[in-house]
Amino acid sequence: NMIYLKAMIKETLLLPPPIPLLVPRESVKDENLLGYHIATVTQVIINSWTIGRDALPWENPEEHRSERFLNSTIDVKGLNFEFIPFGAGRMGCSGTAFAVVINELALARLVHKFNYVLQEGLKLEDLDMTEGSGITIRKK
Ligand code: HEM
Repeated sequence: NMIYLKAMIKETLLLPPPIPLLVPRESVKDENLLGYHIATVTQVIINSWTIGRDALPWENPEEHRSERFLNSTIDVKGLNFEFIPFGAGRMGCSGTAFAVVINELALARLVHKFNYVLQEGLKLEDLDMTEGSGITIRKK
């Protein structure tokens, strides 16, 4: 079932999401959303990066903690708006199921076949996890 591995993959999609601003979209009609008026032809950019760091839905959002997903029903399918690495709704990522399975399979094979250790003399704190910037996020 690889419950922990699945939780860990979710955590890596939360902190940070690979596509931090999703894909820019445009409203097709006037809309009121939570008191905000969004006029027709407004470019809408969803900041999934910030959503993942919101302390309201997420406890200790800056901490990498896969355990937060262990006893949780929160999934990437676009039904939990606090966690939308693949977007949501009809314009959401059509490759979600494929991407999730491939990630699980690839990572499961790597951790099954190899033992990982830090280079001699290195400590966990020495790993530089600083994010670069761009349309997709990777390590700097
Ligand atoms: C971890 C991997 C992936 C991530 C994080 C990701 C994320 C996203 C995001 C955020 C969007 C925009 C959603 C929105 O605007 O609401 C998107 C769109 C899309 N993705 Fe992915 N994606 C991934 C993998 C894939 C794969 C493997 C495929 C195809 C096999 C795929 C196909 C698409 C397509 C076709 C769209 C455009 C959907 C549309 O505009 O109707 N994605 N993806």
